[in-house]
Amino acid sequence: MQPKLSMNIKKATFVASNISINKCPQDGYPEYALIGRSNVGKSSLINMLTRKKNLALTSSMPGKTQSINHFLINSEWYLVDLPGYGYTKTCKQKRKIIQKIINDYLHQRKELICLFVLIDCRHNPQKNDITFINELGENSIPFSIVFTKIDKLSWKQLKENIYIYQKILSKDLEKLPPIFTTSSKNRLGEKIFLNFIEQINQKLKT
Ligand code: GTP
Ligand code: MG
Repeated sequence: MQPKLSMNIKKATFVASNISINKCPQDGYPEYALIGRSNVGKSSLINMLTRKKNLALTSSMPGKTQSINHFLINSEWYLVDLPGYGYTKTCKQKRKIIQKIINDYLHQRKELICLFVLIDCRHNPQKNDITFINELGENSIPFSIVFTKIDKLSWKQLKENIYIYQKILSKDLEKLPPIFTTSSKNRLGEKIFLNFIEQINQKLKT
């Protein structure tokens, strides 16, 4: 029988914040990046997973993270906090810049092993999330979906909302991605999420 994998984050350090992928760390460690609409809880999830309250900067106002932020975990892999997409209140020029940062990272960063697309579990499927996810599929970018803020819904409602998403995504995607559910407020979903990463890290070592 295979031993059950279990990962604990013993060390988490902020390494760099960049707006150009050319300046991102060059040490070749595998990267797991978090993306999603502004305010969905990307930075909060990094703080929850690393058990550090202010490692990634969070805000109740959308548009807080505007660069690529690398956090080195256990001295062997990175969690990457990306800017949010779809925040309409920023000016057009800034939105364009952020879009370019995101596109460059997704299409050119060879260290990216898995992109986690965060979705607020309370909302109906949003057009820009679905388009974004379908484009990941078309471009063969490996990704998973994380439903965030699950403390805000009953289990029944959560299950229903995930089902609606799966139904829509299965229209265009050949295969549905892995799905995770988390609450940074109540520390839910931590183990399953980290063990998924650990499993991939172990495979990369063999
Ligand atoms: P940008 O950097 O602006 O793209 O946002 P972000 O996706 O990094 O969101 P952030 O982590 O800054 O969180 C946005 C707001 O949502 C903050 O007020 C958080 O406290 C709140 N929040 C994040 N995760 C959760 C959660 O699991 N449950 C609840 N109830 N609130 C959360
Ligand atoms: Mg953020």
